[in-house]
Amino acid sequence: MVVSRQRLWRVLSVFALMALLLAGCGDPRLNALTPKGTAGDMQLDLITLSILIMLGVFAVVITIFVYVLIRYRKKKGVTREVKQVHGSTLLEIVWTVIPIILLAILAVPTVQTTFKLAAAQPKTEDALKIKVTGYQYWWEFEYLNANGKRFKTAQELHIPAGEKVYLEIHGKDVLHSFWVPALAGKIDVVPGRVNTMWIDAKQPGKYQGKCAELCGAGHALMDFKVYAHSKGDFDNWVAQQTTPYKPQTVAEKEGEKIFKQNCISCHANPNPKIKGPDLSKFGTRETIAGILSHNETNLKKWLEDPESVKPGARMPKINYLNDQEMKNLMEYLMKSK
Ligand code: CUA
Repeated sequence: MVVSRQRLWRVLSVFALMALLLAGCGDPRLNALTPKGTAGDMQLDLITLSILIMLGVFAVVITIFVYVLIRYRKKKGVTREVKQVHGSTLLEIVWTVIPIILLAILAVPTVQTTFKLAAAQPKTEDALKIKVTGYQYWWEFEYLNANGKRFKTAQELHIPAGEKVYLEIHGKDVLHSFWVPALAGKIDVVPGRVNTMWIDAKQPGKYQGKCAELCGAGHALMDFKVYAHSKGDFDNWVAQQTTPYKPQTVAEKEGEKIFKQNCISCHANPNPKIKGPDLSKFGTRETIAGILSHNETNLKKWLEDPESVKPGARMPKINYLNDQEMKNLMEYLMKSK
């Protein structure tokens, strides 16, 4: 048989599309199938169990189906009428009881895991607690008791590895969903409600976080990062975040003035008109707006036209400064460590 060229192309394009789609699942920092946290492990166990059960059902059904297809096919020259049956109590009991047993096998660990994951209240006072707030289209992380210190950061969540961290999830505008696929499951961000969850990373590493609820034009870019550190590195990071930055050079000092005149009303005011992230340690970040790499070219791009970077961003265009003012402002921001 010769396969027509058209059909061949059709098959090849389906394979190409699948390769493209499935390749997206390969990033281990963004993959729920290669978990790096305890909650992720528990969830993968459930996924594996349900897939095994489904594969078992599939195998049995397909085997019976193929057997019946071959065994009872219409044979040449045979014209007798097959035996007519109306219901079979035994069969009906079998195909009712087996699914009940399978569902019970799935239900017990599912309920157990659900309760374990829901136990999101720390047992000890010194467990690390972080208040997470979702905004269109960025994340605020407020450390409530990191080494006895309380402070805020945004877009980059730093945690000690090998330790359960307790998160309070708050919402201020619309629905979002907090998700770090490699570490744990999703949790809804609901304005007016506080949800809680715990998260851990077994090893130090960098993990990708996502907003998993369609929340507006910038939804797909509402990314954040999770950095899991060794205990010593985490303590150093906390110390750095809680040591105020003092501008050194003339440019930094001029930049600070411009920041205070133009930016602070949203970025440091307790009751801003438009809430913006706390930028007091902006120089320590690895990203700008959670998505661009942290360099001056990208900072300029973001400041001058945020909308072109993240559609729907509520950050106004900073296009009214002269070149020198812009340079000073960027100097101040990049050096604020
Ligand atoms: Cu926030 Cu999608």
